[in-house]
Amino acid sequence: MIYLDHAATSWPKPPEVTQAMIDFLERAGGNPGRSGHRLSIEAGRIVYAAREAVAELFNVFDPLRIIFTLNATHAINLVLHGLLHSGDHVVTTSMEHNAVMRPLRALEAAGVQLTVVPCASDGTLDLGQIERAITSSTRLVIVNHASNVCGMLQPIEEVTTIARHHGARVLIDAAQTAGVIPIDLQATPLDFLAFTGHKGLYGPPGTGGLIINDQVDTHLLEPVVRGGTGSRSEFEKQPNDLPDKYESGTPNGVGLAGLGAGVRWVQARGIDAIRAHEQELAQLLNEGLRAIAGVNVHGPVEVDRSTGVVSFTVAGKRVSEVGGRLDEEFGVLCRVGLHCAPAAHRTLGTFPEGTVRFAPGVLTTREEIQTAVHAVEVIAR
Ligand SMILES: Cc1ncc(COP(=O)(O)O)c(C=O)c1O
Repeated sequence: MIYLDHAATSWPKPPEVTQAMIDFLERAGGNPGRSGHRLSIEAGRIVYAAREAVAELFNVFDPLRIIFTLNATHAINLVLHGLLHSGDHVVTTSMEHNAVMRPLRALEAAGVQLTVVPCASDGTLDLGQIERAITSSTRLVIVNHASNVCGMLQPIEEVTTIARHHGARVLIDAAQTAGVIPIDLQATPLDFLAFTGHKGLYGPPGTGGLIINDQVDTHLLEPVVRGGTGSRSEFEKQPNDLPDKYESGTPNGVGLAGLGAGVRWVQARGIDAIRAHEQELAQLLNEGLRAIAGVNVHGPVEVDRSTGVVSFTVAGKRVSEVGGRLDEEFGVLCRVGLHCAPAAHRTLGTFPEGTVRFAPGVLTTREEIQTAVHAVEVIAR
């Protein structure tokens, strides 16, 4: 079996991740931050260690500014619903995932003004258009760090500079890049970074988070869920302390134990080495697929402008047929269709059919990529 669906979720998880989750359940199964007994204290220590690991990975000064959520979607919704009010203006791009577009469309119906800047047909974002879209009422600019459809990377440093120059806040959707591309939040002072734990950070499903950068005054951001935090229990009002303000209810301790182990595993391999490996695989995929008659690769040609994700179509064949044959005849597992990102597919010209998406991971080998390319060649013939 060749697993090329890491953009959906990474698999297999490192043994260290599984072990950390087993250890949590067997040795630290208390409710973190609630009771004062040893199992609760140990659970709290493991959750805090995961916070520290994430803070170190993104060079965040204060680990308490890492807010754990269920996934990137939850983190994005927290910013959108917590920050925006009727009359505010938001700028985003035509390459976004539905994790961004659906809450934005709902907010638009409730009076938030929305500008969607169109990207080019390979996913390239025109920074000039972002700047021209910003008005005096623009409160937030939201950009996908990398497309989950074609891998195109967006220039988040420049977007941050432009938005901040005009007094707007910046939310980066790093669902596809956390653990894959180096991100330094001291060097790039964006305001909010949403990440997911189960893709490039090799944690389990049900983990993710929002990083609120140091300069953001959290009085601006209302929580979307309120409830018990284990702290300041004498008050019926939600506490303002971080991360409790945004983390009500029992956290996913077992998942966060796995996430902490995943982040440490990524750190030990080194993000630069991971990036170099994925670029090499993306190069092989691009060259191999583009050389097959009838195969059309959608997205950037240059691998330094993308993650390892490569999307393609085969002339005269439904993507579902290609995906089904890859799985059944060749053991190649990938994702076909619209990848929860209809706007991106409209931009790339692949709506409504979608594409076949190959997404290698850290443990994918060159040989596996060669086998997958050969399988596409046979199907295209
Ligand atoms: C670009 C992008 N944003 C957001 C998400 C949502 O991530 P999650 O499923 O962890 O909520 C995904 C997941 O595929 C994604 O690729």
